[in-house]
Amino acid sequence: MSNQLLKGKKGIIFGALNDMSIAWKVAEVAHAQGAEIVLTNAPIAMRMGEINNLSAAIGNAPVIPADATSVEDLENLFDKAIEHFGGKIDFVLHSIGMSPNVRKNRHYTDLKYEWYHQTLDVSAMSLHKTLHVAMEKDALNEWGSVVALTYIAAQRIFPDYNDMADAKSLLESITRSFGYHYGTAKKVRVNTISQSPTVTTAGSGVKGFDEFISFSEQMSPLGNADAESCANYCVAMFSDLTRYVTMQNLFHDGGFSNTGVTQSVIDKFGTEN
Ligand SMILES: NC(=O)c1ccc[n+]([C@@H]2O[C@H](COP(=O)([O-])OP(=O)(O)OC[C@H]3O[C@@H](n4cnc5c(N)ncnc54)[C@H](O)[C@@H]3O)[C@@H](O)[C@H]2O)c1
Repeated sequence: MSNQLLKGKKGIIFGALNDMSIAWKVAEVAHAQGAEIVLTNAPIAMRMGEINNLSAAIGNAPVIPADATSVEDLENLFDKAIEHFGGKIDFVLHSIGMSPNVRKNRHYTDLKYEWYHQTLDVSAMSLHKTLHVAMEKDALNEWGSVVALTYIAAQRIFPDYNDMADAKSLLESITRSFGYHYGTAKKVRVNTISQSPTVTTAGSGVKGFDEFISFSEQMSPLGNADAESCANYCVAMFSDLTRYVTMQNLFHDGGFSNTGVTQSVIDKFGTEN
């Protein structure tokens, strides 16, 4: 059901790789809620061309390649998006994550530092670069909303999440710091949404992901939140109904983050008397 919550709003969505991507669902829901969208992803991620199917499904949204670690690419993206929209932008979704150390199974205690830099650059500093370019170009409307996706490993240890945990901590810190400056200067809000484990290309790269997703399901009173529900929450954050929410890390996890243990997990440890 569409309430046209984003009617008249224009947004850039980073990170739709295939139809499992959280960003893909966000693009679909935002479009259904009345938004106009520009899609972007790293040039290398577009080789399969799947993003063109998404573009076609949401009113031929332009697809503008940008490596989110390149300030030059981001400048080109914002220039082209403003030109396409004929004006400023109302919302941005940062849905980007990648760790070469995770991909190549390097243990956290033995990281390859060159890759560690890449993890932090792609998964966290890219948000700073995006906000910096947007601010410098005065590309976002007042009360504009920027959302980045994160995971609770920023606050607590999940051993196999590896150096992505450090990247997410940095991402959440950038959200607070830039959120302060952008809010003060232009009333732009910046938040992270901390999502349940979700079956996607990035998600399933984490070792032991299938077992972990079941554990998380059992540890969440409402169960794991799926990608489509995450998209609904992102859209709520882009809408005018959440104008005074900024600099927050918002858990979208079925209650996982506030749960110490659940009965179903305790039952697994039951001993026979
Ligand atoms: N899947 C999960 O379990 C889960 C849970 C919590 C948070 N998240 C976060 O959600 C976000 C989206 O991930 P997803 O699960 O939809 O997986 P995904 O693999 O579909 O999306 C990750 C995206 O990052 C893009 N990307 C990588 N390097 C890039 C670069 N240099 N420039 C621009 N884009 C680049 C990829 O092309 C891809 O589209 C990530 O930030 C991820 O950490 C995922």
